Amino acid sequence: MKIPFNKTYTTGQEIVNISKAIANGKLAGDGDFTFAVQKMMESRYGIEKTLLTTSCTDALEMCAILAGVDSDSEVIMPSYTFVSTANAFALRGAKIVFVDSEENTPNLDADKLEELITPKTKVIVVMHYAGMACDMEKVEAIAKKHNLVIVEDAAQAIDSYYKDRPLGSIGQLGAFSFHETKNIISGEGGMICINDVNYQKRAEIIREKGTNRSQFFRGEVDKYGWVDIGSSFLASEIIAAFLKAQLDALSTIQEKRIALWNHYFASLEPLSQVNPNLLPKLPNYATNNAHMFYLQCKDLDERTELMKTLAEKGIKSTFHYLSLHKSVYYGPKHDNRDLPQSDKWTDCLLRLPMYADLTLEEVDYICSTVTNFYNA
Ligand SMILES: Cc1ncc(COP(=O)(O)O)c(C=O)c1O
Repeated sequence: MKIPFNKTYTTGQEIVNISKAIANGKLAGDGDFTFAVQKMMESRYGIEKTLLTTSCTDALEMCAILAGVDSDSEVIMPSYTFVSTANAFALRGAKIVFVDSEENTPNLDADKLEELITPKTKVIVVMHYAGMACDMEKVEAIAKKHNLVIVEDAAQAIDSYYKDRPLGSIGQLGAFSFHETKNIISGEGGMICINDVNYQKRAEIIREKGTNRSQFFRGEVDKYGWVDIGSSFLASEIIAAFLKAQLDALSTIQEKRIALWNHYFASLEPLSQVNPNLLPKLPNYATNNAHMFYLQCKDLDERTELMKTLAEKGIKSTFHYLSLHKSVYYGPKHDNRDLPQSDKWTDCLLRLPMYADLTLEEVDYICSTVTNFYNA
């Protein structure tokens, strides 16, 4: 059996929608499909305002501009995250202050945030790893006390909740990814969530190259020009048309993924007796959007051996982030604090195949390979 790590899932409607976009004769951004996907996300998740972008990376860069981050700012975020979380703020010249992960999840440890705050701190960026919510009430209390902006990197967190609050709707700003590795996709693609109305007008301008073109198209001004900084962050209608088909199928996709995730968990649960930390530990305030199924190996050697064993059986598994505080670029700028949990997740986390078209039989095959590895 050969099982890849990821397979893109399409519904068949994507090409139909793209043909409609072509027939509409409008392929640049902000056409009918763009407005449709934005509206769907806003109403489904109670997000004040969304704007489709070419990637989550772009959406995060917009967040950094909107939050007013500059070279005099400090931004706190986990070290165990994707490079775009940090790059967006590093591009504004900010100092990145890395906080360690929790022992039980790769998410940031909210109990370690407050000691990192200085008069220069402007933003806390939370990243909901594997679509699993961070401890948002703690983060919100600290942000409120110190007057900080919360940005949610919700790249992996579509259709997931903190208690009953949808992820992406909690911070003043947030960002989703529709990269082909995510639950719903558009190849590349992303979305900024603007929950604080004060940012809405400027967000539109920044996304349109620093111009008030959106206002012009709505007939609110009689010409448009350069009014602020910005870039070309808006995605084309082709991306939006593709994404609309995926959003229409979101519930079906989620049902499939959750069934697979639960099957993984039930099949591997007996191994918790051998290693109580092997399986993901979902905090009671977080829902599971089945973005990912990961294991926590004992150490790097065990993970390397397990990956090798899986590969020999035709199963592609993969590790994830390399702690940013030890990266080539930011390592020398880091303030030397040890972040042992971040390092642990860097060395020990292993991701197993997860995609909507994975079969229960394939999950059985993967789980018996993992079980044999530990019981050998
Ligand atoms: C946590 C996190 N943030 C940001 C990104 C960037 O997303 P995109 O590829 O849409 O720019 C990713 C991508 O995998 C991610 O995992």
